[in-house]
Amino acid sequence: GDVHTYTLVLQETQFERLCENKSILVANGSFPGPTVWAHQGDTVVVTVVNNGNYGVTIHWHGARQMCNPWHDGPEYVTQCPIQPKQNFTQTVVLDREEGTLWWHAHSDWARASVHGALIIYPKPGNEHPYKHDAERTIILGEWYEKNLTEMVINATRTGGDVDTSVAYTINGQPGDFYHCSKESTYRMTVDPNKTYLLRIISAIMNEEMFFGIADHALTLVGMDGAYLDQVTTSYIMIAPGQTMDVLVMTDQEPGRYYMLGSPFADTQAPSDTTTPSAILHYNGGYEPRKYPNSITLPGSTDRDSAESFMRLLKSLADDKHPIKVPLNITKRLYLTVSVNNVECAEGDTCEGPNGNRHSASLNNISWTAPNIDILQAYYRKLPGIYYTDFPDQPPRYFNFTGDVGDNVTYPVVGRTVVEPIEYGSEVEITFQGTNIPAAENHPMHLHGYSFYLIGFGRGNFSPNTSIPTYNLPRPPKINTVAIPKNGWATIRFKADNPGVWFMHCHLERHAGWGMAMAFIVSNGPTKETSMRDMPPGMPPCPGS
Ligand code: C2O
Ligand code: CU
Repeated sequence: GDVHTYTLVLQETQFERLCENKSILVANGSFPGPTVWAHQGDTVVVTVVNNGNYGVTIHWHGARQMCNPWHDGPEYVTQCPIQPKQNFTQTVVLDREEGTLWWHAHSDWARASVHGALIIYPKPGNEHPYKHDAERTIILGEWYEKNLTEMVINATRTGGDVDTSVAYTINGQPGDFYHCSKESTYRMTVDPNKTYLLRIISAIMNEEMFFGIADHALTLVGMDGAYLDQVTTSYIMIAPGQTMDVLVMTDQEPGRYYMLGSPFADTQAPSDTTTPSAILHYNGGYEPRKYPNSITLPGSTDRDSAESFMRLLKSLADDKHPIKVPLNITKRLYLTVSVNNVECAEGDTCEGPNGNRHSASLNNISWTAPNIDILQAYYRKLPGIYYTDFPDQPPRYFNFTGDVGDNVTYPVVGRTVVEPIEYGSEVEITFQGTNIPAAENHPMHLHGYSFYLIGFGRGNFSPNTSIPTYNLPRPPKINTVAIPKNGWATIRFKADNPGVWFMHCHLERHAGWGMAMAFIVSNGPTKETSMRDMPPGMPPCPGS
């Protein structure tokens, strides 16, 4: 394949949104940042130059980085932050995935403004399995009123929460339903009677979203860098971290049509100010008809619509795209996923619930980042950085999705503990949502792999009733799974990528509170199945 080189210069830049000026950290002066593209089999070499005020890292979300965790990016997992005035060059070999992925900052909440599309076309000479005339990228995001870095530093200190954003955005613009925003609404111009491939990326920080286009059907054909069996729907539900490829035919009366997002948020009531919009604008001379046109997205608490959408997801299966679901599971994990709060330390004043500190966990362990990255500690065999006794099961069983109210009976500990996995294992993970202290959706993302989503449902996972519902013949192959609120989801993958790989909730507040863990997959029998040696130029760790 070809080699493409890119430079991402991170710098504080002024933007005006909602009639206010504000400086945010962005790449190459744009929000969202530049698109990186390649053909399958190509290599992308990216130099990240940090001209900002804080340490930052960049992650290639969904790129498997075979044997090369060194350039994956999560801070204190595979590298230390790139400090201000420093740079770091990452190599991303795109030999497995095809479709739409994205890149984003992976340090604190910097990804809110530091992100962009990563597009992988089929190998030259190969055709995209779904015909289309042109393509467009749509990035869903959020806009914060105050300085996000300061808010995050403050929340980390006090154990409190970060203020929610003041707008959702489509390609950086809030759209017609926010104040002072109409003029800059994103317009996607299209020609009539064509088929467009929309590459939709959710860079949203903390909510899942319904998305649709007035009077136009959406044909879903890909997700998370793999193809789906095509299915036509009036809306999609996309979680933070996920990417979806959708065909839209411009077969309606020439005009202007709203494209809308609507949060699937469990608790918040929807209102106009939570609706980002953009306009699908047909080229040509015609009497512009008045919009809005007909578009009704599911409501913010509509679990049925969210789940029925998830049931549409099936892999494309043909000779070129074989399905290889692991069938001989050798490693099984059952992980409770919960948001907790923990007691405030003596002498601190905490601003979390009831004067406590917010926390979140997997099997009651709240991820605590070390100050040297796990990968380096593993590679150099540094003692005392992390533990390896991650529990494969919750510390105790009860009705996780029942009315448990608080977490008094399910205490959480903050530790840096990883799960070792032997190379070649066939791994199954069941995520169990909990009602501690209140149920939420959690988009769980795994680095270094795509996995098959073989089942999901409401309530507690139960072998007798849950396993018979598994979809082994046609599961979707994805990298981020939206675990249903108060429900469970099961994934499978083959551990064929050695290295240190992070797994976490892609809701930033949950990840920040510790809803995360790391896997260490051992080396395989050959050099080709072993992790690469530590490359030169890794950012130094503080104090090392
Ligand atoms: Cu998209 Cu660990 O991230
Ligand atoms: Cu979560």
